Amino acid sequence: MLHRALAVGIVVATLAAAFLSGCTSQNLAQVLPDPGDGSSSAQGLTYYQNIAPILGAKCVTCHSTGGIGPFTLTSYADARANAQGIVQVMQNRTMPPLPPTQLGCQALDDERNMSDDDRSTLAYWAMGAKAEGDAAHPAPIVPPVDVLGPATVNIDSGLDYTSTYPGTDDYRCFVIDPKLAGTFPLIAADTTSTNGSIVHHVIIYAALPQALAAVAQLDAADAGPGYECFGGPGFTGAIPVSASAVGSKARPFPEGSGIPLPAGTQFVVQVHYNFTNGRGANRLALQLWQATAPLTQVPHGLTMANTTFDIPAGAPDVEATAIGQFMTTPPGGAGFAKPGKIWQVFPHMHQLGRSIYVELERTDGSKACLMNIDGNWNFHWQGSYQFAQPVTVQAGDQVKVTCTWDNTADNQPMVNGVQQPPHDVRFGESSSDEMCLTGLTLTN
Ligand code: HEC
Repeated sequence: MLHRALAVGIVVATLAAAFLSGCTSQNLAQVLPDPGDGSSSAQGLTYYQNIAPILGAKCVTCHSTGGIGPFTLTSYADARANAQGIVQVMQNRTMPPLPPTQLGCQALDDERNMSDDDRSTLAYWAMGAKAEGDAAHPAPIVPPVDVLGPATVNIDSGLDYTSTYPGTDDYRCFVIDPKLAGTFPLIAADTTSTNGSIVHHVIIYAALPQALAAVAQLDAADAGPGYECFGGPGFTGAIPVSASAVGSKARPFPEGSGIPLPAGTQFVVQVHYNFTNGRGANRLALQLWQATAPLTQVPHGLTMANTTFDIPAGAPDVEATAIGQFMTTPPGGAGFAKPGKIWQVFPHMHQLGRSIYVELERTDGSKACLMNIDGNWNFHWQGSYQFAQPVTVQAGDQVKVTCTWDNTADNQPMVNGVQQPPHDVRFGESSSDEMCLTGLTLTN
């Protein structure tokens, strides 16, 4: 997909070409700065002094025992054994997994961001002598900052789930009742799992009392704990409160805002289980954080969706767009919202998605990229992204979402180890349907 920021596009293309051309130290020096004295060497870099702190900060949330990563990166032996792979993922930037392009777009506040300096250090060490260093005097490993502190309530779901789904990916919704007796000013929500190695991403929805009958019906209609759900939670009026891929931490709503949930509100947690690391039972717990000061405001959202597209079987490049508009007094429903400050973007497609581009078009004609997943959309790594700095919008400004799908034979999902044949695809919630949707979260 071509974007308006052509100059940036060219730089990216040049870098990408360099990444793909192999991994000699010469072209590594073109794409990553030399971490040492400029001599393209890893001289002086050691595991205990330079490497373990970076792996500890950027990799071990997933690459440790019980994590979703396919191997551990928690020891000198691990780092040595995986050195070649480390060089590769530092060069092509596929790890830590963070699909949006930030160059030419918004900088993200995300723990999976990794500096070029750290990329260089890992890559040059892994390509060099891989020195161990002084195990008795290791550099400290700084744990990620915990902005939220301990949760206000932690609710064990009581639901032990062992998937019998024959394929590698099972999408399931679990209903959890925190038994809220009064209004709960929610500022953040998260889950923990007893078996993190099979949990890929989690989306948490609040189900208000008026939606509970529909939720109970869905739950009762499906044997076993929870119910099958793919594109969404399957009931009307679900309020998304958190969407995270593994490896990202819960964070509070911005600027002291939050959602006052009425007594009786329950939660529907949509879990994407992936069984490439093995199978087994999992049990969720839900954590909720309550505001400690009165809420300043309730964040508002802009949802844009195209529901009328056709993606013919075999088509390599099908595009659809959706528009949203900011208005001082917006009519209800999707596509309109009050202006304010945009903090979060939640882009969403299913398995045929390739690219999604979200662009702000201001009344003065200027444009700004809000989200650019360019060619590497991956349903498995979907989530909500928070900006490092909010983007202010005025009444009259518009947001345009452009989705691109690839419905060729090579881009079909696997079911039971068999790649599916292409079929004509339209909008829908199931895994064989598609979506083109983006949600924005704003404060006033
Ligand atoms: C958010 C979780 C997560 C984080 C953080 C993460 N990885 Fe991974 N990594 C995975 C998963 C899952 C896979 C398996 C392939 C996939 O699903 O993309 C993987 C695969 C890999 C591979 C195999 C090559 C490949 O692309 O399949 C290497 C090498 C690797 N990771 C290195 C790293 C390094 C080095 C870091 C830190 C700089 C890191 N990873 C951070 C989850 C993560």
